[in-house]
Amino acid sequence: MSGAVPSGFLALPRVDPTLAREVQDSLEQVDELLLESVKCSDPLLTEAASYLLAAGGKRFRAMLVLLSAHFGDPKLPDLVPAAAVVELTHVATLYHDDVMDEAELRRGRTSANQRWGNTIAILTGDYVFAQASTMLADLGTEAVRLQAETFARLVQGQVQETSGPQEGTDPLEHYLQVISDKTASLIASSAEFGGIFGKVDPETTGVLTRASDALGMAFQLADDILDVAGEPADSGKLPGTDLREGVLTLPMFYALRSPDPADARLKSLLGRPLSEEETEEALALLRSHPAMDEADTTLRRWADRSRAELEALPDVPARAAFHALCDYVVERSG
Ligand code: IPE
Ligand code: IPE
Ligand code: MG
Ligand code: MG
Repeated sequence: MSGAVPSGFLALPRVDPTLAREVQDSLEQVDELLLESVKCSDPLLTEAASYLLAAGGKRFRAMLVLLSAHFGDPKLPDLVPAAAVVELTHVATLYHDDVMDEAELRRGRTSANQRWGNTIAILTGDYVFAQASTMLADLGTEAVRLQAETFARLVQGQVQETSGPQEGTDPLEHYLQVISDKTASLIASSAEFGGIFGKVDPETTGVLTRASDALGMAFQLADDILDVAGEPADSGKLPGTDLREGVLTLPMFYALRSPDPADARLKSLLGRPLSEEETEEALALLRSHPAMDEADTTLRRWADRSRAELEALPDVPARAAFHALCDYVVERSG
């Protein structure tokens, strides 16, 4: 074991250094397993599937599996494959999501769809998902069911985002349901996987799952704020993707509510596909709009909900780490 210096969230001063090193060590094992799991006899498929894994990413979901297990036995052998499964599931969805969103940059690299075309990107996502399923088979039927149900919810969220709210449905409520399904679902299940395979008692696992669900909401809200305010150097993605695709996100809902006639131009640019020029214009207008602060307040409220759940947990270093995670998610977009 290398015992490398923890990076990213784990390096925060509020995270106990011993805990951070243990999680970091396990994450390194997860990484080895990830890269090994996508090797096959087809060189293009191996390359395309290794591509996003090797590009990095925060490994947020894998880390949640490992961190949750610290409320039980974090050394149990199924935890590393369980963490790899959630990360593979996540990465598979990224290949597909970038096709749907016509994204050009992912994890600081040219997206797979941009590099190899949509067909290869879609098939690579399918393949990564299949490799996750193979690993999952060894973890038992409970794990297979949890992952399948989570993935079904995630797909439903992506479909609902595409189809939009039905007549009579509040668009903001629809949006919150979409982000719950497409993002919070897998983040919550990551904590649940950690609980199951770390043999955490069911009550504590329930708390961790609920806390992570709220954290997952905050996580996607931060991502949506970053799609407006972020820089590629930090996010590894090009800003303005949601605006360009006509996907409405929280700051846009708040801007749309504005009665100020000066906002008429911005409002006319929201919720429909935009040209590159229009995207740049909308980005500039939205960046300086008070709706951004409003969205930030809502994001903080979700992080607070997560913190409130954490109160029910024993006061151990892993709980402090969960609190630090809440801070991290909020600060990331700040
Ligand atoms: C991106 O997830 C997709 C969302 C659900 C917001 P991450 O922000 O976790 O992406 P990586 O794994 O760090 O690249
Ligand atoms: C991604 O949502 C959700 C999933 C991958 C399931 P977004 O489309 O908002 O995420 P980014 O911004 O591309 O990472
Ligand atoms: Mg996207
Ligand atoms: Mg998307």
